[in-house]
Amino acid sequence: MAQKDVGNKIPIYKLKTTDEVMKYYDDWGLKNKYDQDMLDWKYSGPKETVEVFKKYAKDKDVKIFDAGCGTGLVGEELKKFGYNYYDGADLSQKLLDLVPKKLYQKLSKIDLNKKIEIQNNTYDAVMCVGTFTFGHVKPPALDEFIRITKNKGLICFTINEGVYQEYGFDKKIKELNDKKIWNMKEFFKSNYIASKDVNAWLGLAEIIK
Ligand SMILES: C[S@@+](CC[C@H](N)C(=O)[O-])C[C@H]1O[C@@H](n2cnc3c(N)ncnc32)[C@H](O)[C@@H]1O
Repeated sequence: MAQKDVGNKIPIYKLKTTDEVMKYYDDWGLKNKYDQDMLDWKYSGPKETVEVFKKYAKDKDVKIFDAGCGTGLVGEELKKFGYNYYDGADLSQKLLDLVPKKLYQKLSKIDLNKKIEIQNNTYDAVMCVGTFTFGHVKPPALDEFIRITKNKGLICFTINEGVYQEYGFDKKIKELNDKKIWNMKEFFKSNYIASKDVNAWLGLAEIIK
């Protein structure tokens, strides 16, 4: 069977550099177009990921880092399920400006492809939804997420199927599994942008330090 050409399914998937991606989001955020597209496209990443997360994070006071929070769709889901503390980070100031006020405790403009200026073992959990995709954030960010997460903390993420091998997420995940840096509790294919037939690997791992 011919391999699925995921890279042609959505215009942003054609972009290669962070600058191009950021310029694209500057326009996409206008008039809430990003949020409207996500509704129209039946993007289920935030809802599905938080549903998996809540099976493992029973304490509603856990401190969560939403990496690549965009307009705050993951924060909205965390709020629905009664979580009390989440910080958001994204490189697009335009999208950060669209996050509803008081949804997150703290919002920061951060390039997740660089070292994150947050101390070791700060968070109980990292959520990273929709952000491991074409031209966005690369596998080394997982090392940073692990560094800022406490022992027995959780990392919950999606990885677009189109970049899973191309960007080396497959090898990175194997390495983290083999070295017992984390214990993968959930890992399955999600049809996360159903109307475009774009799938993602959805994972949840517990950190072992
Ligand atoms: C598809 S959106 C997902 C946003 C949100 N998590 C959601 O599920 O709606 C991807 C996000 O990754 C952010 N992003 C892309 N490259 C980034 C980088 N290098 N550092 C931080 N954020 C980045 C974009 O600005 C955008 O908000």
